[in-house]
Amino acid sequence: MIFDILTLFPDMFRSPLEGSILGKAREEGLITVNLFNIRDYAEGRHRVTDDEPYGGGGGMIMKPEPIIRGITAIRSAHPEARVILMTPQGTPLRQELVKKLAHLSHICLVCGRYEGVDERVRDAVDEEISIGDYVLSGGEAAALVMIEAVSRLIPGVLGDEGASEDDSFSRGLLEHPQYTRPRVFEEREVPEILLSGDHQSIERWRRREALRRTWERRPDLLARAVLSDEDQEILDELRGSSGAE
Ligand SMILES: C[S@@+](CC[C@H](N)C(=O)[O-])C[C@H]1O[C@@H](n2cnc3c(N)ncnc32)[C@H](O)[C@@H]1O
Repeated sequence: MIFDILTLFPDMFRSPLEGSILGKAREEGLITVNLFNIRDYAEGRHRVTDDEPYGGGGGMIMKPEPIIRGITAIRSAHPEARVILMTPQGTPLRQELVKKLAHLSHICLVCGRYEGVDERVRDAVDEEISIGDYVLSGGEAAALVMIEAVSRLIPGVLGDEGASEDDSFSRGLLEHPQYTRPRVFEEREVPEILLSGDHQSIERWRRREALRRTWERRPDLLARAVLSDEDQEILDELRGSSGAE
């Protein structure tokens, strides 16, 4: 997977891309991240990339020409690239969308700054994505979130194939509770079933706890999750034991 990033602050990417899983994925050639400074596509002695908003109001708006020149350069070299604008007004990033993006071969992420980008930039992109209902000062942190979430699903990146399959959201539910040594910590014990070696019972317990956790914390997810008859029975039982409708 190739990620091309259009940003005014390429240095913000260097350290997060060096360490841990992303650093290793880059070393192994599983992902490539190319950083393009939007300022390099600006013209004039001062290479200005922002200007005041028409109609007045505070803050500065990123000018369309440098960003669109950058996008055009990337598109002409890589017509297959999917160009995505990072914006709080975009489609919310959820795991289903992450899965779709992980099938692409080339993604170009456009990072806004200041009060955002000139509206005409929107016509030059394929898609707009938001990482959540809050406002960041720039698209760089949002682009890093996208790179990390998508890269985890690229075969080989996690080292252990399928390790992301049980993650929260992957199957429409939050993940079950996880424990490691010690067996007893401050008088709190690891559930006995996890020490039993009985894999079928452990799987049943995990499914039940994933359902319980999702029902307690994110009941909105249950409406979209694919649930078996057994799952429904577990949920009915959970609702019954809590006295909920
Ligand atoms: C301060 S924000 C601009 C917000 C804009 N005035 C608005 O209300 O929609 C500057 C830049 O940060 C990025 N950004 C901020 N919040 C984001 C979010 N939730 N998801 C993705 N990108 C975001 C976008 O690239 C945006 O252009």
